[in-house]
Amino acid sequence: MTSDVLTAKARVFDRWAPNYDWLFTTVFYQAVHQRLLSYVNLPDHSPTAVLDIGCGTGKLLNRLAAQYPQLQGTGLDLSSEMLRQARRSNGHRPRLIFVPGASEAMPFANHHFQAAFSTISFLHYPDPQQVFVEVSRILRPGGQFYLVDYTTLFELGTQQNVAGLGGSMHFYSPQQREMLATNAGLIHNAHHSLLGPVLLSIFTKTEILS
Ligand SMILES: C[S@@+](CC[C@H](N)C(=O)[O-])C[C@H]1O[C@@H](n2cnc3c(N)ncnc32)[C@H](O)[C@@H]1O
Repeated sequence: MTSDVLTAKARVFDRWAPNYDWLFTTVFYQAVHQRLLSYVNLPDHSPTAVLDIGCGTGKLLNRLAAQYPQLQGTGLDLSSEMLRQARRSNGHRPRLIFVPGASEAMPFANHHFQAAFSTISFLHYPDPQQVFVEVSRILRPGGQFYLVDYTTLFELGTQQNVAGLGGSMHFYSPQQREMLATNAGLIHNAHHSLLGPVLLSIFTKTEILS
């Protein structure tokens, strides 16, 4: 079931990839990235390994690499065509690399990253709890997870499912995000409204999980 959903999502984003940075939507995504950056706190003068899950064409990592000269960024995405675009427009080789994989089973060692990002990708995940468990696994203690996605304001504490883009999409309330995080060993720091219904939630990895 999960693998069928992932295959369908990859197909949709493979088709979208060649136009992703041309359509009007990119203006929206870039405004979201810009606002997100004002809340990001990474070391300025030491090498910092960061992961962008569902990285798409890699625009957020390029922006982060420009702001943090020591940053080493990895982009993970299901869609080979999105990755192709990301590699073509990689302005910070070899500090940025882009690898294939699913957010539900990340191909990385435990505690490898100091920060993880997910912008407008979490809504596509068929098993959000598993993604939080994976984020917790790959983060170092004290590492931060910046989750940016549409939220639902209608029913606090529940998730909202909407049909579209290769299967259903899921919007989570602030409380729902906090519950998923707590179950995975992350603590919640803050929520910030970025643009319309797009909410940034920041979490910290507190303890080493087995
Ligand atoms: C709307 S795009 C957002 C891309 C990028 N984060 C941005 O802000 O522009 C969603 C991305 O998530 C990826 N994606 C969706 N489900 C995924 C999954 N389960 N694992 C990894 N990537 C996934 C898609 O392939 C697509 O590139």
